[in-house]
Amino acid sequence: MTTKSKFQAIKGTRDLLPPETALWNRVEQIAREVFATFGFGEIRMPIFEPTELFARAVGADTDVVSKEMYSFDDRDETSISLRPEATASVCRAYIENGMQQLPQPVKLYYTGPMFRRERPQKGRYRQFYQIGAEVLGGSDAPAIDAEVIQMLMTFFDKINLAGTRLYINSIGHSADNCRRAYVEKLRAALQNVKDNLGADSQRRIDTNPLRLLDSKLESEQAIIETLPHISDHLCDDCRANYAAVKSELELRGVIYKENWRLVRGLDYYMRTTFEITAQGLGSQNAVCGGGRYDGLVELLGGPPTKGIGFAIGEDRLILSLQEGGNASLPQGRDVYIAWMGQRPYAAAVRAAKNLRKAGLSVELPPCELKFSKALGQADKIGAKFALILGDNDVAEGLSTLKNLADGTQQKLSEPDLIAFLQQNQSK
Ligand code: HAM
Repeated sequence: MTTKSKFQAIKGTRDLLPPETALWNRVEQIAREVFATFGFGEIRMPIFEPTELFARAVGADTDVVSKEMYSFDDRDETSISLRPEATASVCRAYIENGMQQLPQPVKLYYTGPMFRRERPQKGRYRQFYQIGAEVLGGSDAPAIDAEVIQMLMTFFDKINLAGTRLYINSIGHSADNCRRAYVEKLRAALQNVKDNLGADSQRRIDTNPLRLLDSKLESEQAIIETLPHISDHLCDDCRANYAAVKSELELRGVIYKENWRLVRGLDYYMRTTFEITAQGLGSQNAVCGGGRYDGLVELLGGPPTKGIGFAIGEDRLILSLQEGGNASLPQGRDVYIAWMGQRPYAAAVRAAKNLRKAGLSVELPPCELKFSKALGQADKIGAKFALILGDNDVAEGLSTLKNLADGTQQKLSEPDLIAFLQQNQSK
């Protein structure tokens, strides 16, 4: 139930509340565990950076930078932006902290909020959360691309994300290599069909024709299918690289589908690009995107450095888990302590302390309640057990434990009680 309040969260932002936040924590915890098994360490970065960093890294003509950034002038009039993504910041941090001196490659992961002023809808927010990882430095061996993707799929498997599909592509080498030649061919082909394209796409013929392949406009789909494919225009090196990435994926048992239209919305990519979709998300079904960006560190003033990474949209990941019924949450509490009387209250406070010390979640009502009312409360908050403490129980040195699911009761001493509850603890 929601109540109209004087202040409301800004459009496209929202509060994440318990018990759902337990699911967020569990997902993040599993990501940390899986990424650690692949040798990744965590990086935490500022959520705002100089606007210029994103304009350079992501590209001034991209939608993300030109339309969606939250930018403002600091008091000294330098322009600052809330980060729309984190790869630029990781590269900035790599250079600034001299990480090229460390053994290469440097493998980093991050979690946290990103900000884009998009039109909010299911799975699309203005403040959203990413779990991302980047591999910087060392070689650009195709095995690295495959291992990064394998890590992702291992993580999705571990959290039981259903219906995942991995799409891959190679968009060739940037600068003066095969991509430039392809973009020119694409532009020429687009000029021929210009009149049949929407206004956005017409504009993109000049600014960023690759992005046009991403168009979701129904009227443009048939036209796009007639355009030249980049895979037919890759140079020999890029073609060999793409073939090697695919065979490295096969070696690892990673199932993929090729999608020649997968160009991604950020300018820094070259060669391998990939996206993963999941079920139950409607039109915003990309739960992860990533790719290789070998020129980026250098573009930001660092030494020539290889780079590849991805970011998972955590909001969408959680949505998909919930829609797939794979989002079971831990019970409300392990135990609710129902007490009546002065001495039982002291025993209840002691029991709460000892049970919590043993790692159990405990609800201790602060005021005396009749047992019937207390048991009603215990039910309401989803407790598994009620510990009943009255004068008789305290005199006996035993407590009564009631299973709230089936109504059975047993009397236990404190050590037996802790052992029993730990065995039956919510995971
Ligand atoms: P991206 O494709 O822009 O890539 O975003 C990655 C993921 O973040 C998307 O697949 C989606 O799940 C989620 N996402 C993006 N925008 C929103 C939004 N408005 N609301 C909810 N979720 C959203 C990047 O950000 C790159 N930095 C990924 C990367 C890392 N490439 C290399 N390294």
